[in-house]
Formats: sequence, structure tokens, C-alpha cells
Amino acid sequence: MTNIKPLITQEQIASRLQEMAMQMATHWQPNTLIVSLLKGGFVFTADLMRALHHQDVQPEIDFMTVSSYGADTISSGEVTIHQDIVESATNRPILLVDDILESGRTLAVTRDMMLNRGAAEVQIAVLLEKPGKRVMDVHADYVGFSIPDQFVVGYGLDINNRHRELPFIGVVDDGG
Ligand code: IMP
Ligand code: MG
Repeated sequence: MTNIKPLITQEQIASRLQEMAMQMATHWQPNTLIVSLLKGGFVFTADLMRALHHQDVQPEIDFMTVSSYGADTISSGEVTIHQDIVESATNRPILLVDDILESGRTLAVTRDMMLNRGAAEVQIAVLLEKPGKRVMDVHADYVGFSIPDQFVVGYGLDINNRHRELPFIGVVDDGG
């Protein structure tokens, strides 16, 4: 059995999301489109949009399936778009939502894609960030938690597509 050591609890995530939604609401425009990056961003996005509801925001949402990792825990450096959004990004503010900002490759590629399509503005929200790991010039406008350089799972984040269902964020303890 994989041993997973809790790092951020369900309660900590929930209260941080309320704060983030409050911050986002002050910047919200009626035609802002949330673009949720799958797969990792789906749990965060689902809870975030319900937190936005408590701020009287009625967000529009779409999804893009992107991967920057192979089956390993080390970034391959390649970003692949498996499935694009359905809605148009032209002339509207976009809020990109992802689980974690590490090298910044995923968000740099998707941000530039939205800007090339004529998005009015692109903001970025991530639940987690690992400082000091940036390879691309990407700034997140909203960050839930900064975490140490450890591989984490849960709350949408995976290792080999497992552990996304955990309600908390944990560190994989390989026993080493
Ligand atoms: P970046 O493109 O290097 O910024 O990496 C972002 C993507 O890598 C995220 O969307 C995650 O899917 C994945 N990732 C980075 N660090 C972790 C981690 O600690 N656990 C699980 N996935 C991670
Ligand atoms: Mg992943």
C-alpha cells in the first residue's frame, strides 16, 4: 500500500477557497470564462465554482485536457493538448484554473493559446505552487498554497492517474 502523509487538510483547503473566491469576485466580469485544466484541475475547479457562488458570481466554465507529464513524476517538458475548449475565448476575460504551478510549461502554453485567440485578459488560479521550480515566465494571480518541492497527490492531483479521489493533499512516502 502506498503511504500518503497529509500535508494540507480538507478544512484548510475549504477555507482557503472561500478567501480565493472573495478575491476573484472583486475582479469578475459578466463574460469571464473559467477554463479548467484537466485532469488535475477538476476537483479544485468544482469546489472553486461553488465558492464563487457564495460570492454571487455565476461563472461560465469550459475544460481543456492537457498533459505535461508522462507516466512519471518528472516533467517531460512537452505539453500536449488532448482536448480543446468548446467555447470561444475571443474578446473575453479568461480565468485558467489548474491544480499546481511547477515549471510553468502547462500554464504558459495554455495562457499563450488563449491570448493568441484574442482573449481580453488571462488570469491564472492554482491551488498549489512550488516556488523555485519555474522554467517559464508565468505569474499566478491566485495561489492557494505554496508547498515545498515534494510530489503531492490528492484533491485531483495524481501519480500515474491514482489518488485523485483523496479529499486532502498528501505527500507520497515511498519509504525511502
Ligand atoms: P508544470 O507544467 O511543470 O507547471 O506542471 C504542472 C502540471 O504537472 C500540473 O498540472 C500537474 O498535473 C503536474 N504536477 C506537478 N507537480 C505535481 C505534483 O507534485 N503532484 C502531482 N502532479 C504534479
Ligand atoms: Mg497530473
